[in-house]
Amino acid sequence: MGTKPSYEVCPPSPDGIGKVYQGREIAQVMGHPGIGWLERSDREKEEAPSKAIALLELAPDAVLADIGAGSGYYSFRIARKLPRGKVVAVDIQPEMIDFLTKESVKLGIKNVQPHLSTLEDVKLPDGSLDAALMVDAYHEFDHPIEMLASLRRALRSKGRIYLLEYRAEDPHVPIKPHHKMTEAQARKEFEAAGFRFVVNKPDLPWQHLMIFERP
Ligand SMILES: C[S@@+](CC[C@H](N)C(=O)[O-])C[C@H]1O[C@@H](n2cnc3c(N)ncnc32)[C@H](O)[C@@H]1O
Repeated sequence: MGTKPSYEVCPPSPDGIGKVYQGREIAQVMGHPGIGWLERSDREKEEAPSKAIALLELAPDAVLADIGAGSGYYSFRIARKLPRGKVVAVDIQPEMIDFLTKESVKLGIKNVQPHLSTLEDVKLPDGSLDAALMVDAYHEFDHPIEMLASLRRALRSKGRIYLLEYRAEDPHVPIKPHHKMTEAQARKEFEAAGFRFVVNKPDLPWQHLMIFERP
């Protein structure tokens, strides 16, 4: 039997929290004052989120959790692809949940369900999700072991995870190192949590779009 994964500590770097998982220092959480950056008008030109959304394979009645949804930039755009399904927009910051709730009223979108989670638990019923999406969020998770275990329970069998992270292999991606990940690192962490790596789609300008599956 291999050693069970666990956490270590390190001196905190300016963008990190001094907690290490599988050799990676966990990044600080982006606070709610960052909503303006998430909603910036040049995001489409820089990151091509519409291309990322087009690459998600979702049935019209799918239930998808957008974990670390922030302002819901992705949640509200994906909800339009799910006329009979919904997006559960999950975040740990109550201010993000308030923003999501007000935005859904403003936009008149009824199939985005804001959902407050905890640092350790996505707090969704077992087997309730067809898919989960994490965009620029997983590297901030304070308790990745516990969070992935709770997500594994919440996903149905063969449910998929779409993991978008800025490419750490590419020095030209203009994002701080703690907010980027390599494919090798992501695979190490998700495979340790019992997920199967399916593919890494190379289509986006700055991000990996990695797909994992719950066996
Ligand atoms: C950089 S923002 C990205 C927001 C959104 N995914 C986007 O791309 O527009 C990261 C978000 O992840 C959330 N977050 C951090 N740790 C989390 C956790 N353990 N569970 C759920 N959300 C978390 C933060 O509160 C923040 O809203």
